[in-house]
Amino acid sequence: MLQKIEETQKQFAQDVLAVTDQKSLEELRLKYMGKKGLVTMLMPLLKDVPNDQKREMGMKINAVKNEIESTLANLATELEQQKMNAEIANTEKIDITLPVDNGVGSLHPRTVIQKEVEDVLISMGFVVDMGNEVETEFNNFDAVNVPSTHPARDTQDTFWLSNGEVLKTHTSAGQNRILSKYKGTCKVIFPGRCFRNEALDAGHENTFFQMEGVIVDKNVSVANLIYFMKEMLSKVFKKEVEVRLRPGFFPFTEPSFEMDVKCPFCGGTGCSTCGGSGWIELCPCGMIHPNVLKMAGIDSNEYSGCAFGLGFDRLVMIKSGLNDIRALNSGNLKILKPFKLNI
Ligand code: DAH
Repeated sequence: MLQKIEETQKQFAQDVLAVTDQKSLEELRLKYMGKKGLVTMLMPLLKDVPNDQKREMGMKINAVKNEIESTLANLATELEQQKMNAEIANTEKIDITLPVDNGVGSLHPRTVIQKEVEDVLISMGFVVDMGNEVETEFNNFDAVNVPSTHPARDTQDTFWLSNGEVLKTHTSAGQNRILSKYKGTCKVIFPGRCFRNEALDAGHENTFFQMEGVIVDKNVSVANLIYFMKEMLSKVFKKEVEVRLRPGFFPFTEPSFEMDVKCPFCGGTGCSTCGGSGWIELCPCGMIHPNVLKMAGIDSNEYSGCAFGLGFDRLVMIKSGLNDIRALNSGNLKILKPFKLNI
């Protein structure tokens, strides 16, 4: 019996050397510990051992069994470790170029556009000023030539506060404050959040972002307006763009225009971005109405000025192909994350 046990032990010591992977380890385990395994089959042999040796032999078999079991367990751990090391070394190389959702935030697309436009205009000598979100009725309407009796008030469904002030309906509301501050020559842009009591749909939001710009000096003309707008839009679209003016109406400019840019996507032949027309309406603008200059304490005989507006939400939509303005305020990362500016 003792000889049999020792033979099994020796044979195992030999066999274990041939183990190279989990498969051969499992085969070895079955050979010794399986139902008909060499160690398992030692136990039944005990019945033929003389009684006075049974206890000793039983203990020997158990010792061999325990030894083999722990060798098998150690081998299993070792092989697992080797497999992991191999995977790290070859097969499972981590592709660090793969985008991961690691929770790091980024600028909102509208902020990206705003900074871009601001940088362009700053490079052309403009100063950036901030507008208020809550404005007086005077600044929002009267100071831009929209007295309470003016029908243009109806075009802007306004959120009135109980103290008579308003959530500003357009960045033009900042004109009087800015013009009064400079009292003459200035080139200022003032971006900001605006609010209107709109019924929401893919093209209308109650909260949106605009930028207003004013240029005041002696002898400012429509030519200056066209020059700055064309330069700005060319930089924004990263190519020389063609612009055109159409007559428009705004109470605070005279004459008033709608400035269109020749579609930078199709070059004017017509595409889905420009609705097939070849032109995109982008900047409402005009020569500042003498009344507006006067209300800011500027002598309209000495100074003239031009003003322009630009909607950031619209610009983001044009540049990205996004077709629902509501996505921009939604905080919906599924929509905003894959967002990419095309130009
Ligand atoms: N404030 C106008 C609006 O929100 C846009 C606008 C029109 C701004 C003409 C201007 C301008 O500066 O000259 O509808």
